[in-house]
Amino acid sequence: MAENKYEQEYQSRFLKYYDELKWLYCELYENRMDAFHKLCEIMYQQYCTRKQPLKELDAQRAKNSNWYKGNQLLGMMLYVDAFAGNLKGVKEKLDYIQECNVNYIHLMPLLDSPEIENDGGYAVSDFRKVKPQLGTMEELEQLADDCHSRGISLCLDFVMNHTSKEHEWAKRAMQGEKEYQDYYYFYDDFGIPGEFEKTVPQVFPTTAPGNFTWYPEVQKFVMTTFYPYQWDLNYANPVVLNEMMDNVLNLINKGIDVIRIDAVPYIWKQLGTNCRNLPQVHNIVRMMRIICEIVCPGVLLLGEVVMAPDKVVPYFGTVEKPECHMLYNVTTMATTWNCVATRDIRILKQQMDIVNHLPKEYVFLNYLRCHDDIGWGLDYPYLMQFGMGEVSHKKYLNDFFTGNFEGSFAKGELYNSDPTSGDARLCGTTASLCGIEKALQNTYDLEQAIQLDFMLHAYMLVQSGIPVIYSGDEVGQLNDYTYHEDLKKKEDSRYLHRGNFLWDLAQKRKEKDSVQQKLFDGIGKLEKIRSQYSVFEVGADVWTLNTGDTSILGIVRSYQKEKLIALFNFSEFDKTAFIYQNDGIYTDLISGAEMQANEIKVPKYGVYWLLKKD
Ligand code: GLC
Repeated sequence: MAENKYEQEYQSRFLKYYDELKWLYCELYENRMDAFHKLCEIMYQQYCTRKQPLKELDAQRAKNSNWYKGNQLLGMMLYVDAFAGNLKGVKEKLDYIQECNVNYIHLMPLLDSPEIENDGGYAVSDFRKVKPQLGTMEELEQLADDCHSRGISLCLDFVMNHTSKEHEWAKRAMQGEKEYQDYYYFYDDFGIPGEFEKTVPQVFPTTAPGNFTWYPEVQKFVMTTFYPYQWDLNYANPVVLNEMMDNVLNLINKGIDVIRIDAVPYIWKQLGTNCRNLPQVHNIVRMMRIICEIVCPGVLLLGEVVMAPDKVVPYFGTVEKPECHMLYNVTTMATTWNCVATRDIRILKQQMDIVNHLPKEYVFLNYLRCHDDIGWGLDYPYLMQFGMGEVSHKKYLNDFFTGNFEGSFAKGELYNSDPTSGDARLCGTTASLCGIEKALQNTYDLEQAIQLDFMLHAYMLVQSGIPVIYSGDEVGQLNDYTYHEDLKKKEDSRYLHRGNFLWDLAQKRKEKDSVQQKLFDGIGKLEKIRSQYSVFEVGADVWTLNTGDTSILGIVRSYQKEKLIALFNFSEFDKTAFIYQNDGIYTDLISGAEMQANEIKVPKYGVYWLLKKD
């Protein structure tokens, strides 16, 4: 009976979107109706294999399409092996995850990938198999079930721009099968690749220069935008899109709630362009959204778009024709670290004003750092008015965060430092960048470092959107330098902040006054407050406040009868926020102190979360 009802719902969703899907597909693939019918078949097959409980979850979420937009959702990203060895280990650690108040986990890539050339799992060799060291598909499914029974959602990457050169398709292409060479971009000589190179920038200028790799085995150049062993898939071939949609639906059917579409801006290539964010990319993302709406409407798409703000926002699509449900707030993240180094929040205020003016349907994932580097994609024209030029300012930031600037408290390492352009990005854990590492070596004030780390988390939790913590940051885990000795990792400094989770250290969260206890309890308290007050709902109005001091960021949230004024001092000096609200008594949710929201003294790296109820 229920099955029948769901079947009818599938058919009605299919009919609802059929014309648009067909139109998008035919526009991209010049009326290849045979391929379009194949895609429809794949969708139906995958729908039929979708488990009843997942269909029920879809139906439940369809009734409340805002299910992911509340103040209840809190995320954590982690590598399965670094966190708990394997999938079974993660299952055993779900209590800890819940102790962290987390109900959304992003498991970093766990599908099969080669032992050595794997880019942290982002070079998939089999989309239908879990990396054997981590477990099996059945264990993944089991973990998803366990997560659901605890109210936890699971996010997984879908690495769609490329496959590993060890993928079955790549191997067959390498053996000369034309059918599979057409899954990728193969060229006999450097003619066309050379033309591409004139307009396509480089992702890894130092660790993997160029966008093509010569494979003598087949005597061909292959397009490899990322590492040479990551072969770009050719989405101009409809078979590739169909196969990849089959793969993603298969993964989703294991019980995945959120799909992170990895490196999505890169999936369409066209000569004479920079091969980023082309209109065809949006066509494909919109199709993916429709495909999910039809087959698994409870599933969310999270786009990984590490681009300038004007390129990021279009991935939300329009309100009528949405693309991704969620996107990373990448510019705000990078801008935050800029303000840590400069103690000047003006550019952050300006960046937040841009985000706060976007429609509320647009949900951002906020984070302080992730598994990747921090790239200095800042609003340089804005900075120029203060005399900060792009090249010199990036150099200052990199010097500051690698601890090479006089008085700097940070410890980080450069990533893809490009000697020709002088450009470089940055790696490090939140705690090490905040000075905790130096303080533990007695060269900096520990309390001050902990306070900065705490303040940054408090600020992230107030931003509009969903906060996601990188596993280990909740207990102030430091940089892991062991990757320097590891032949498989030493060329990639991102491993500096992807170290194993140190359970012994985490255990110290139970020891009073330890660094771990202060951070874990401090951040935990903030998270609980966030989930208790409706002013933290994603639907709240959020705007910034002039504080009269360039080191103090002021954020206001207002929702129904609650108003919150949050103040963050980004400097190591005690300061005063010259705000004049004159509208009654506020309570600081963190300390419980009551005060008027007028001329507030904010200690160095201090935070206030001032609440007033009407
Ligand atoms: C994404 C991942 C990054 C990876 C790249 C190539 O940007 O976050 O870790 O190197 O895609 O797949």
